[in-house]
Amino acid sequence: MPAVPEVRAEQALAQLCLNLVFVRLRRFLSRLLLALFALLCVAQASGQYVTGAARSEPPCKHASAWSKPRPISTGADMNIKDQVVLVTGAGSGIGGAAAREFAKRGAKVVILVDRRDTVYNLADEINASAGRQVAEVKVGDATNDSAGITRDALAVRLDKTTGKAQPYPINNFREVIEVNLVAPTYWAIEMVTRIAEDRFKRGLKQWHPDEEVQGAVVFIGSVSSLGNKGQISYAVSKAGLEGATATLTKEAMFHGVRCGIIHPGFTDTPMVRGLGEDYIEKNILPFTQLRRLIRPEEIADAICFMVTNPAVSGQLWADAGWHPQA
Ligand SMILES: NC(=O)c1ccc[n+]([C@@H]2O[C@H](COP(=O)([O-])OP(=O)(O)OC[C@H]3O[C@@H](n4cnc5c(N)ncnc54)[C@H](O)[C@@H]3O)[C@@H](O)[C@H]2O)c1
Repeated sequence: MPAVPEVRAEQALAQLCLNLVFVRLRRFLSRLLLALFALLCVAQASGQYVTGAARSEPPCKHASAWSKPRPISTGADMNIKDQVVLVTGAGSGIGGAAAREFAKRGAKVVILVDRRDTVYNLADEINASAGRQVAEVKVGDATNDSAGITRDALAVRLDKTTGKAQPYPINNFREVIEVNLVAPTYWAIEMVTRIAEDRFKRGLKQWHPDEEVQGAVVFIGSVSSLGNKGQISYAVSKAGLEGATATLTKEAMFHGVRCGIIHPGFTDTPMVRGLGEDYIEKNILPFTQLRRLIRPEEIADAICFMVTNPAVSGQLWADAGWHPQA
């Protein structure tokens, strides 16, 4: 099988995009998220919204956990219905599809975070099709800093004429890590922080399975986390999210928060379409098992599956059989 010319393909995948974070909280936090991320933290600290059990009834006493048979959830909608969801990078592609899907499944509020104000159009569309005010917009950079712009490049590029070797620019590396790794990790950490504080205030200690799950985070990784030529910064950032997932999976469950990461393959978004039809036809499709791009709705469905199925943690590969070449 001929190798996919990775560098061009990787250029598409490596454009800076934010990762998606799903937040399941008891009360509205939407009004707080009309402010920037930094303000979000302040508002949360002020107790204007309370994270915690998703249902209105108080959590069951732990002692009853073994004696009371609990109903098994019969559908994904049960878990998403009436929850609050936050999607970063919601204005396009996978984030947009996930936002639509959460709204369709009955989320109470879906907060759309994007730096482009075209995200308002998506909010209008979601609200119109839901027949209610479900989508709320927060336009701004999802990092606390300006968004980095990066271009993929080999870690070391040798000029074959001059013999001069060029290392990958460290500033680009830092920018990618900031946007792709630091920002989503801290959105997640902030959420767990508020949930931990809220539980403390309510006299709750270690989460028990007899309670409702308190929240869920799904990071958007990439098949490139396996390592991919020309994507040193992007691959490191996505692999870093695996570490964040693995650690939060272990730590955050103390507070009742589940964590996972999905690794999409080539998905039909503006980012990938930017490669051009010819390139996609010749260099991508033949190497996928589906012989087509993954639909954003398929990734959104997988994200909802990760959120709603309590047995799922860790990593989910949604790659249509495409893996980076050696
Ligand atoms: N499309 C794919 O084939 C593919 C494959 C693997 C992983 N991914 C990952 O999925 C995620 C979404 O990719 P996509 O293809 O839907 O991208 P996209 O370009 O279609 O959408 C990304 C959105 O994020 C917004 N955004 C970017 N930087 C931002 C910032 N700093 N603050 C706020 N908003 C910002 C953009 O405005 C845009 O609306 C990314 O994390 C990407 O790495 C995509």
